[in-house]
Amino acid sequence: MSMLEVQGLKKTYSTRFGGAKVEALKNVGFEVDEGEYVAIMGESGSGKTTLLNMLAAIDKPTAGSVKLKGKELATIPDKALASFRREHLGFVFQDFNLLDTFSLKDNIFLPLVLAGQKYTEMESRLRPIAKALNIQELLEKYPYEVSGGQKQRAAVARAIITRPELLLADEPTGALDSKATDELLALFGEINRAGQTIVMVTHSVKAASHANRVLFIRDGEVFHQVYRGEDNNEAMYQKISNTLTLLTTGGE
Ligand SMILES: Nc1ncnc2c1ncn2[C@@H]1O[C@H](COP(=O)(O)OP(=O)(O)OP(=O)(O)O)[C@@H](O)[C@H]1O
Ligand SMILES: [Mg+2]
Repeated sequence: MSMLEVQGLKKTYSTRFGGAKVEALKNVGFEVDEGEYVAIMGESGSGKTTLLNMLAAIDKPTAGSVKLKGKELATIPDKALASFRREHLGFVFQDFNLLDTFSLKDNIFLPLVLAGQKYTEMESRLRPIAKALNIQELLEKYPYEVSGGQKQRAAVARAIITRPELLLADEPTGALDSKATDELLALFGEINRAGQTIVMVTHSVKAASHANRVLFIRDGEVFHQVYRGEDNNEAMYQKISNTLTLLTTGGE
């Protein structure tokens, strides 16, 4: 079954001073099945964050449609959006979006607190996630007391602790060193094998090589896809980097 159906998606930003408009997304269409692990790649400014924001109903498209399990996001009333997101989606923001007045642990617990979850349940969910992300020792610290990579891992923990139907992650390894990247990719692989649907924006060929499919966006459109098929991560890595080479050289 389809987890996500995106059709004719368009987003035009108008600048504050009535200047030139930016066509961030022109015409994006794709589907993601339940249980899939999809990476999205594209140059800086190609519209990846814009796309994720539309998928998460954080921002409204100029035209087109996004359906999550058949439900058109545009039909959800504004006042119901926050709880809809909390119930169905996990989002790892490119700039983490942690609250500075909360410890990492309280940041991670926040969506569960808002959902009225019991403390013992929150604790037992956090334990394996904190271990996998290697942040057990940092949970009582505040965001301004930890590094960018540590904040990023807390943001990932917050996104997956609710066991969302769809995990949307914007460059989730962007601030991580190679060891933390490997740990995060192992965790994503594990939760995906357990059924978690993942859509991950990334600049990293290595991160993308863990997905089952890679969408490449350019000039506000999906213009190419790479499928894993029966390939292992190494072969997938090769296919992705060949595609990127082809794209940057224009196929010459
Ligand atoms: N709120 C906004 N108002 C006006 N223009 C915007 C806004 N947000 C993004 N843009 C523009 O839309 C285009 C796409 O931006 P977006 O953030 O989606 O790119 P991206 O692919 O995520 O880039 P990066 O890899 O650097 O994160 C860019 O030209 C950007 O300047
Ligand atoms: Mg971005």
